[in-house]
Amino acid sequence: MLASVKDILSKAKRENYAVGAFNVSNMEMAQGVVMAAVERRSPLVVQITENAMKYAGAKELLELAKAVITERSENIPVGLNLDHGKTFDMVRRAVELGFNAVMIDGSRLSFLENINLTKRVVDFAHKSNISVQGELGIVPYLGEIDVTEIDWSKLMTDPQKTKEFTEKTGVDSLAVAIGNAHGFFRETEEADWERLKQINQLTNIPLVLHGASDWAKGKVLAAIQGGITCFNVDTDIRLAFMHELCRAANDKCSVTDPRKVLGPARDAVRKKVAEKINIFGSANKA
Ligand code: G3H
Ligand code: 13P
Ligand code: ZN
Repeated sequence: MLASVKDILSKAKRENYAVGAFNVSNMEMAQGVVMAAVERRSPLVVQITENAMKYAGAKELLELAKAVITERSENIPVGLNLDHGKTFDMVRRAVELGFNAVMIDGSRLSFLENINLTKRVVDFAHKSNISVQGELGIVPYLGEIDVTEIDWSKLMTDPQKTKEFTEKTGVDSLAVAIGNAHGFFRETEEADWERLKQINQLTNIPLVLHGASDWAKGKVLAAIQGGITCFNVDTDIRLAFMHELCRAANDKCSVTDPRKVLGPARDAVRKKVAEKINIFGSANKA
């Protein structure tokens, strides 16, 4: 059932586990993600980006995601979040489309501009009971920054600024930069656990870790210990989908029915998401 992201994350924070927020851009991915959550009896966040909406059509993809949640999630709580909204207009559109949570990513703006944009979004979204995730610090994308010259300390969230940011904006959750990056990116072996601990103490709201695809179990567990309540995963389920799609297509290249390759790809997503849910500790928490 469609459920509040704020409630999903608050429960995870209270009970010391994390939920997965998984990005989808087509029917099979949405179904695979929701099927895994039902199988593992786990709360879940389904996420959609602006690029995914450009690809599939905003209204079409949203209606599809909502239908998958209604038809398949049984009584498992599932939130529907706009991932990396960059502008106020994008957020307004997301609310009209029926997302029940949004992220406003002002991380590339100055601190003051980030506060102003995020606060404007919070004031607007809260009127419709929609929760808001902000971001402080930079979680780089593969290709955005030269990995060989990266100075991680310049990208990371400044714990002292998080208090001012969360108090002034009123965000419900916060994406943090502690050495994490989007995609299969060469990250520092250890994240900055001390920084995470300080951020957690100073904010006391659910913290979100983006770029979790390549985080192994040990790092994930340490992050939960440090206060992370939500892991964003995109690349790893794209890879699971594509790997199985290609495998099935090569084996059956004489078959002309797309369902023969899309079905196994959907199942690969289901399996990958179920594995992540086990590691995040959200199985049987629905
Ligand atoms: O952080 C978000 C994604 O991993 C990038 O997604 O390619 O749909 O913009 P996108
Ligand atoms: P990955 O693609 O590294 O899993 O990151 C996903 C993400 O942060 C989506 O917001
Ligand atoms: Zn992200």
